[in-house]
Amino acid sequence: MKRAQFEELLLQSLEHEKGGVKVYTAALACATNGDLKEEWQKYLGQTTKHVEKLESLCASLGIDTRAERPGQLVVRSVGEALVRAMELAQSAGDPSAAQIVAAECVVLAETKDHLDWELIVKCGEELSGSEAASVKQVADAIEDEEDEHLYHSRGWCRELWLQSLGMKALLPPPEERKHVKTAIGAARAEQAAERQR
Ligand SMILES: [Fe+2]
Repeated sequence: MKRAQFEELLLQSLEHEKGGVKVYTAALACATNGDLKEEWQKYLGQTTKHVEKLESLCASLGIDTRAERPGQLVVRSVGEALVRAMELAQSAGDPSAAQIVAAECVVLAETKDHLDWELIVKCGEELSGSEAASVKQVADAIEDEEDEHLYHSRGWCRELWLQSLGMKALLPPPEERKHVKTAIGAARAEQAAERQR
């Protein structure tokens, strides 16, 4: 494994989690569904903790988090664009449309989050000794939460769109009601939902 690129991955992940705090804060301002607000409030709390855990992981691996690399700036600008998109939607004065935009922005943000942690787990398997143990300890706790963030948010996004189309929507989505934490679980929940429509 290329050490410099592993450091790049951790720094991008840290930048993305920091952006995630802002994305969830903006998304919560757009949320009108009570269950969704509760869900995103929980994810905001978890994302805030991910920032702290990644900062201490970087410190334990001797990675300087103050240096700003080009990759981090790109990640930051994507996060800022998602926040701007939600603010724009909110200012248009249609709360239901703004809530859907927020759900899409959360899905986009969580897609990279999910990828980051999947890769961090793989990198951890390449390390040895105390470094491997530190990565494993952090990643084991976070990866499950990231699965939930992505699959549940995708379910919310799809069902909010269906509701807006005047079609039968299942809210909260089956992914949340079934506590889905895997891709196969998400596919099964979606299949079961199709049978209910
Ligand atoms: Fe996340």
